[in-house]
Amino acid sequence: MSASGPLGHPRLHLRRATSTNERARELAVAGAPHGTLVTAGEQTAGRGRQGRTWTAPPGRSLLASVLVRDPPRLLPLAAGAAVADAVDEAAGRGGGRGDTAAPERTTEIKWPNDVHLDGGKVAGVLVEGRPQERWAVVGIGLNVAVTEADFPPELAGRATTLGLEPADIDPTLRVLLRRLERWLEADAETLLAEIRRRDALLGRPVRWSGGEGRGGGIDGDGRLVVITSDGGRVALDAGEVHLGAAPAP
Ligand code: BTN
Repeated sequence: MSASGPLGHPRLHLRRATSTNERARELAVAGAPHGTLVTAGEQTAGRGRQGRTWTAPPGRSLLASVLVRDPPRLLPLAAGAAVADAVDEAAGRGGGRGDTAAPERTTEIKWPNDVHLDGGKVAGVLVEGRPQERWAVVGIGLNVAVTEADFPPELAGRATTLGLEPADIDPTLRVLLRRLERWLEADAETLLAEIRRRDALLGRPVRWSGGEGRGGGIDGDGRLVVITSDGGRVALDAGEVHLGAAPAP
């Protein structure tokens, strides 16, 4: 893939931001270099995919946006792979809840780049940019030290946390950035193999605005394949679809 070089410098840390993506976009327009990082302790207007908002309790979540110049076509998938790696590494530390032996935990990617830990969403990624100006901002929200009690009732049972401490946010960010550097330099086949290995939707019910079916894997262009109930195959592009969980069969 095309973008390469260290990520994380220069870094702007804001105690409170409207949205780190918004700030990183302003910096991109002003000519900031590849790898520029914006982090915040708190966001007042955090953005999620599909026009949703992203909320997180102050000081307990990784809230970061990194500027990528000459972004590769599969950037949204590369970002998901990097976050999943960082979650694996952090979850393997022992959980931060006083556990002496950490049980095996499962990190999956719900296409295109929601990261799930043991079935609950632990992180989300929002990629925004200007393709004609050849830059993109990768925004990541990762529940590092959020507690279960912090989740609003509508997310109970669907969202999860690494259950670590606020002091773990920066080390987790460092791992994440190193993994993102690696995935930005990986060839497309290697990245797609990783996304397929972590595919949370494979064989599972999928519903989108155009119909429903079961996850049939990820194709060579990084699209989600859905096998519809009549046996047809549809390939969905990220950004065009709004996935919802299909009702249990
Ligand atoms: C999603 O809907 O799953 C994507 C959520 C992305 C949230 C992050 S938090 C840091 C960055 N700034 C934002 O305003 N959004 C992203």
